[in-house]
Amino acid sequence: MVEWVKLELDIDGFDETRFERYLHRARSSGIRFTTMAALGDAPQQRRALYDLNKACSADIPGRGPFYTYDEYVAQRIDVATFNPNGVMVGIRGDDWIAMSATSLHPEQQFAFSEMTGVLAPHRRGGLSLAVKLLAIRFVRSEGYRRLVAFHHPHNEAAIAMNRRLGFVDQVG
Ligand SMILES: CC(C)(COP(=O)(O)OP(=O)(O)OC[C@H]1O[C@@H](n2cnc3c(N)ncnc32)[C@H](O)[C@@H]1OP(=O)(O)O)[C@@H](O)C(=O)NCCC(=O)NCCS
Repeated sequence: MVEWVKLELDIDGFDETRFERYLHRARSSGIRFTTMAALGDAPQQRRALYDLNKACSADIPGRGPFYTYDEYVAQRIDVATFNPNGVMVGIRGDDWIAMSATSLHPEQQFAFSEMTGVLAPHRRGGLSLAVKLLAIRFVRSEGYRRLVAFHHPHNEAAIAMNRRLGFVDQVG
């Protein structure tokens, strides 16, 4: 059985000024950031999100086969926890190249980082930090104080990304 690495970020203690430069740099390079809500969350956008999520998920250790599009819509979008305001995307030209999707769990009082991904040719330039900064702002603006993420123990890049942002091992 996989021992998931369970990480958590204290939103109150998060100093976003440490990461703003990554957002500025990405914007200066021609990437625009928006949300699924602002884009309309229509079938065309859902397909683009699916394609991006699928391409990025191919590099998640232990992920196995990805959903078909219909499965993705049924299990990831047409669900109560899908919040189009909490799905950040980075777009260059017509290409969707980065995403960070967050769900909110009011009863348990935490936000959950569902998926952060950057297309392989655009990696190692700070783009995940830029798009995740927007996700963290969303969490903060919704009044949540905890952002949680679970990773396969072999997903070194994702674990390092989150630790870089200040995530620590969950206690208990
Ligand atoms: C994880 C992922 C989103 C990182 O995207 P990225 O844009 O390349 O990451 P960044 O350039 O912003 O790097 C941020 C930090 O993460 C760490 N990091 C990123 N990639 C890494 C790698 N391959 N190995 C080790 N550390 C890595 C570093 O600490 C880095 O900071 P630094 O460059 O200042 O040292 C990307 O590798 C990806 O899409 N992977 C596949 C999908 C996935 O596993 N998503 C997470 C599951 S939800």
